Amino acid sequence: MKKRKEFLPFSRPAIGNDEINKVVSCLQSGWITTGALSKEFEDGFCTLTGAKQAISLNSATAGMHILLSALHIGPGDEIITPSLTFASTINMIALRGATPVFADIDYDTLNINADLLAGKITGKTKVIIPVHFAGVPADMDKINALARKHNLVVIEDAAHAVGTYYKGVHAGGFVHPAIFSFHPIKNITTGEGGMITLNDTDLERKLRLLRFHGIERDAWKRYGKGGDPSYDIAEPGFKYNLPDMMAALGITQLARLQELNARRTALAGIYLRNLAGISGLDLPKKPNYDFVHPWHLFIIKVTGRKREKFMAELAEYNIGYGLHFSPAHRLKYVKEKYAVNPDSLPETERAADRIISLPLFPDMRDDDALYVCDAIKEIMKHG
Ligand SMILES: Cc1ncc(COP(=O)(O)O)c(C=O)c1O
Repeated sequence: MKKRKEFLPFSRPAIGNDEINKVVSCLQSGWITTGALSKEFEDGFCTLTGAKQAISLNSATAGMHILLSALHIGPGDEIITPSLTFASTINMIALRGATPVFADIDYDTLNINADLLAGKITGKTKVIIPVHFAGVPADMDKINALARKHNLVVIEDAAHAVGTYYKGVHAGGFVHPAIFSFHPIKNITTGEGGMITLNDTDLERKLRLLRFHGIERDAWKRYGKGGDPSYDIAEPGFKYNLPDMMAALGITQLARLQELNARRTALAGIYLRNLAGISGLDLPKKPNYDFVHPWHLFIIKVTGRKREKFMAELAEYNIGYGLHFSPAHRLKYVKEKYAVNPDSLPETERAADRIISLPLFPDMRDDDALYVCDAIKEIMKHG
């Protein structure tokens, strides 16, 4: 087959004229940091998820940081999470002085195996952090029931889950908090950015203080007409607010969510149809409950050859790829600090050396996806 000349990236943000015009109008408005547009973006997220409150941030990591801070997570506390997650979660747990406890995943969906969670709970467990992996929701009924029974907080890692529904409920629409990410590869982007959704007025107040220096009133209220420019600090906080310039992008992307996710779903369909039956590849499988998949990532598992060789071969065809993720228990810091036995995570270990994320972004053409499928068929043919 003929190799393409132009590189097909693993991901590219879908930025159109609507996004550009909205950002430009914000730039021209005279107010570019956190203000009315960030509030509008937050309101849009409440509407999408059904959560009572939404707090915009400059990353999902910031959201995890202030949530763990507001919950007073600290030394001696244990937090259950999959090892197959982004390092940011483990970093935030470690920075709070707490201990991550890794639960194994289901190989087919890459989601935390909710049936194994009970065995991980000790007297020190405070929080469970499931990840809706690649956009497929974790089994929230089981996780929520267990959390209720043991009086634990659930924080959904919904970084992959803008457009994810579990049994009709959007990620972040349960009673507990969730974090979303708007990094450029995500289903919607603000360049960098994040959101917490929650249903708890007291926690919301604490989080808003932690988000912005511990200052009670937002800058846009202090600097508005007749505003009182003085401020006071209730407790020390961080600087994690989302500027309006970026919220402008988020508002426009959110308005296009159906269109963007429909395009991802169509491309995933091309992959599923054309990669089916190739020996040496495992395709993503569905969980056995009702859900809506926003197809944040399309992850295959290469069983027929070494994954690193497969990546090098994809590169020869000018195809980009991603790795979600290097499991946390194999990262240097985590290994040295928490010494996790890999034998306790057999399905994570099985998936870890096989997973690779294929190109998937709304502006990809059908031809691009078909080219990836043809290249993979060629690669797998030649042993
Ligand atoms: C599962 C998961 N959690 C958390 C994050 C952190 O998101 P952010 O980059 O917005 O801090 C990411 C980002 O890639 C992620 O994939």
